[in-house]
Amino acid sequence: MTASGQLSTTDGSTWWRSAAIYQVYIRSFADGNGDGVGDLAGVRSRLDHLADLGIDAIWFTPWYPSPMDDGGYDVADFRDIEPLFGTLAEAEGLIAQAHERGIRVIIDIVPNHCSDEHPWFRAALEAGPGSVERQRFWFRPGRGPDGAEPPNNWKSRFGGSAWTRVPDGEWYLHLYSSRQPDFNWDNADIRAEFEDVLRFWFDRGVDGFRIDVADGLVKDPALPDVADGDETPFSDQEGLHEIYRSWRKIADSYTGERVLVGEMWLPDMSRAARYLRRDELHSAFNFDFLVCPWDVSRLRDVVTRTLRAHDDVGAPAAWVLSNHDVTRHVTRYGRAGDTGFSFADRLHGTPVSLELGTRRARAAALLTLSLPGGVYVYQGEELGLWEVEDIPSALRQDPVWARTAGADPGRDGCRVPLPWSGSAPPFGFGTGTPWLPQPDSWAAFTASAEAADPASMLSLYRRGLQLRPSLGSASLAWLDAGPEVLAFTREPGFVFALNFSAEAVSLPPHSEVLLASGPLEDGLLPTDTAVWLRR
Ligand code: BGC
Repeated sequence: MTASGQLSTTDGSTWWRSAAIYQVYIRSFADGNGDGVGDLAGVRSRLDHLADLGIDAIWFTPWYPSPMDDGGYDVADFRDIEPLFGTLAEAEGLIAQAHERGIRVIIDIVPNHCSDEHPWFRAALEAGPGSVERQRFWFRPGRGPDGAEPPNNWKSRFGGSAWTRVPDGEWYLHLYSSRQPDFNWDNADIRAEFEDVLRFWFDRGVDGFRIDVADGLVKDPALPDVADGDETPFSDQEGLHEIYRSWRKIADSYTGERVLVGEMWLPDMSRAARYLRRDELHSAFNFDFLVCPWDVSRLRDVVTRTLRAHDDVGAPAAWVLSNHDVTRHVTRYGRAGDTGFSFADRLHGTPVSLELGTRRARAAALLTLSLPGGVYVYQGEELGLWEVEDIPSALRQDPVWARTAGADPGRDGCRVPLPWSGSAPPFGFGTGTPWLPQPDSWAAFTASAEAADPASMLSLYRRGLQLRPSLGSASLAWLDAGPEVLAFTREPGFVFALNFSAEAVSLPPHSEVLLASGPLEDGLLPTDTAVWLRR
């Protein structure tokens, strides 16, 4: 972005290498029409918040027509807008309005699966076994004498089997809920369809796509049984690279540097980096960093490995602390022991110190904002919101909750509608009752309360995002500031330090303190506190 706030055409080739991208989970951002569900009118009314925050781009989670079985990740039509959220014309207006403020727009694309209400899936059900319509999905006969056993032992990532039987006896594959049938990417219709969908939205001005389940589209057509935890036949298959090369050509055929961002939870960072070669995706979320516990050597190690793997392919890293799928990091960092996350283990009910979690979240914010590369901010993290763990069962909507019979509480706790203003729910979210209840204690965490408080999380994010573009080179050098201090430099002259030890420590040599995540104590850096310095 230029000083005047306009999208620059001269920096067009690099904006995504260091962008700060704000994730809007539309249902929970702001409600413009009083039905208790966030929508595009709500987003338009709150664009000032995002402009004041100083972000470069917004990533919108899926906004397409959807039965909302999985919060919109079950898409019924890839070329329109969910009526609960607004209209296509409104989306076009929103893209233009964001651009006027110098904010780029990235949207989610969900190519691994669709909704069971998508016309292609309905047609497949109707057309029956052996039809060309069924070849767009993974329909198979079952096993066992009467085909009553699923075709293989794959598990849904939301719990239970990955197969559902239809009345004519065949089964279809769904790596997520039974209302999200997986597409068969060996089928030419699917490839052509998604290339066209990319063009449809690029033509409407979007600056890029976040690709849902980017590692999962291609399946081993033999559909072999797997050992527990083995995802080999449906993750990171070699055939994916060819798909992303063709998508990259489409993106590159548009002006203004349009980008492709992959969502990939791969165990091996060097495998993930292969998707970031120059003719494939532009970037991918760094989940190793997200799941890393609060531990100085493990964090240093994950940063080192990330930068190395990305350097090897010439791609920027993308740092992320939270998103709509994981326990909010104030809560993760506020728990003793491991702060990791997995779909199966959300640790609800484990004691949390919000005071500790908040102190660490502030330090982590300064860490992510100062690492070389891009950074994602999930709505509400700039307010210091925590995971809401006491949502009544009857109100929980994540299919994970139902598919695990409540064993996994699911992801609703990080999706609670944002508090904007006022002293009681709905906190300016809208005029209706929010689709998930907000805690009363969020009165002190509304955007308007925090905007007025220089010590708030919001003020820290604003200042950090403002200073961030001046932090220096696209690489870092570790600085030895003691075994329990994470410290590095970026040239020219920027120094970062985060103290993990139980005692306050002295600051590395500096001429100026630019920003600190908490008050310094007699010039010393306290526990779980980070500082930005000018040498
Ligand atoms: C999205 C989830 C979604 C899943 C299936 C993801 O990884 O981020 O929210 O449930 O894909 O689409």
